[in-house]
Amino acid sequence: MELALYHPQFGYYMRPLERSSERIGWNGDFYTSSDVHPILGQALAKQAGQIDALLGYPDAFTVVEMGPGKGLLAKHFLSAGQRDLNSFCQRLHYVLIERSPAMRELQRQNLAPWLNKPGLITWVEGLDSLALQSMTGLFFSNELVDAFPVHRIQVTAGRTEELYVDYQDGRFVECLKPLSTSTLAQHLRQLNLNWPEGYRTEMNLQALAWMEQVARRMDRGVVLTIDYGHAAQDLYGPDRKDGSLLCYFQQSTDEDPFTRVGEQDMTAHVDFSSLAAVGEEQGLHMTGFTNQMSFLMGLGVEEMMAELEPDSPEFRAAIHLLKPNGMGTTFKVLVQHRGIKCPDLDGLKFKPFFGSALAARSAA
Ligand SMILES: C[S@@+](CC[C@H](N)C(=O)[O-])C[C@H]1O[C@@H](n2cnc3c(N)ncnc32)[C@H](O)[C@@H]1O
Repeated sequence: MELALYHPQFGYYMRPLERSSERIGWNGDFYTSSDVHPILGQALAKQAGQIDALLGYPDAFTVVEMGPGKGLLAKHFLSAGQRDLNSFCQRLHYVLIERSPAMRELQRQNLAPWLNKPGLITWVEGLDSLALQSMTGLFFSNELVDAFPVHRIQVTAGRTEELYVDYQDGRFVECLKPLSTSTLAQHLRQLNLNWPEGYRTEMNLQALAWMEQVARRMDRGVVLTIDYGHAAQDLYGPDRKDGSLLCYFQQSTDEDPFTRVGEQDMTAHVDFSSLAAVGEEQGLHMTGFTNQMSFLMGLGVEEMMAELEPDSPEFRAAIHLLKPNGMGTTFKVLVQHRGIKCPDLDGLKFKPFFGSALAARSAA
C-alpha cells in the first residue's frame, strides 16, 4: 500500500497529473467534501475563529493542514476567514504539509490569490519541520489518515497472522505469515479483541505514530481529524469481518488491491479510539467525537444555507455533505485539545449517540 500510493515514481499520489481534474474530484477517482461544497471549509474557519477567542487572540495563530490534496479546503477556509474574520486573518499562518509534489502544485494553483501575502501560506516537508510544543492554533486534516498504509491481519487456526504481498506467476498474491512487527502484536494486545476464525481487518500503525507526533508539536490549541472511521468497538466488531480496505477508480469501488496498482486510490477506515488513546498518553485530551453532519449543524450550517437558493444545485450539494446515510455520518470528526481547559466548541454542540462510547474507551 505504501508503494502503491507513495512510490516516488509510480505511486498513485506521486505520479505527475496530466489534467488537474484527474485523481480527486467529480471527474477523478473519488471526491471529498471540499469538492462537493465550500461549506466544510467555511465551518472550519468559523471553528478556528472560536478557538482563537478561547486562546485569547494570540499574536500568531497557526493552522496546520496535513494532506491538503488539491488545497480546496484551505481555499474555502481562507475565503471565509477573509470575509468574516478579518482580524484573525491578520494573525494567521497557514501551513500545509503535503507528501506529493503533484498535489503541492495543485495547491499552489488553488491558493494563488493568497500567495503574495508575506507569511500567510507556507509549505513544510513534514511534521519534523515543526518544532516540539511550538504550535498555538489548530491542526487539521480531512481524509489524510485513511490514506496511510495499513497492515492487514487475519485470524487463522486461532492465531492472528499478517497478510503479506507475494509475487507469483506474474501477479501479486496474498500470503499469511506471522505478524511483521512487535508494535503490531503489542497494539493487538492493547485492543484486546476476540475475533472468530477467518476474521480479517486492518491496523493503521502509521496513524498511531502520526498522532503521537502531532500531539508533541501542539503547545496550546486543538487538533481536528476528519475521516471515514469508527470507534474501535464498531470498526473491529462482528459486522466488519472482512475489514474496510477499499480501492477507488473512476468513481467506483473495488476490494481488490492487486488490480490497477498505482492507478487507484486505496483507503482503510480509521480507528478513532486508538487515536484518542495515543493522544491522551501525550497530553492531548479528547474534547469530543462527532460526525460531519452534527459538526456542521453545530457550526450553523442552517444559517449558511439560508443564503442559498432552495433546491439550487449549490443547496443540494451542501445537503449532500449532511446526509444521514451518506457523507453526514460516514465522516467522523475527532477533536482533541492541549494547553487549554476543555473547550466548549460549537462544532461539538450536537451530541451523536456514539460519542460517549469513544469517551469511555479512551478514558479507560
Ligand atoms: C484523500 S487526499 C486528501 C484530500 C483533501 N484533504 C481534501 O479535503 O480534499 C490525501 C492526501 O494526503 C496526502 N498524504 C498522505 N500521506 C501523507 C503524509 N504522510 N504527509 C503529507 N501528506 C500526505 C496525499 O498525498 C493526498 O494529497
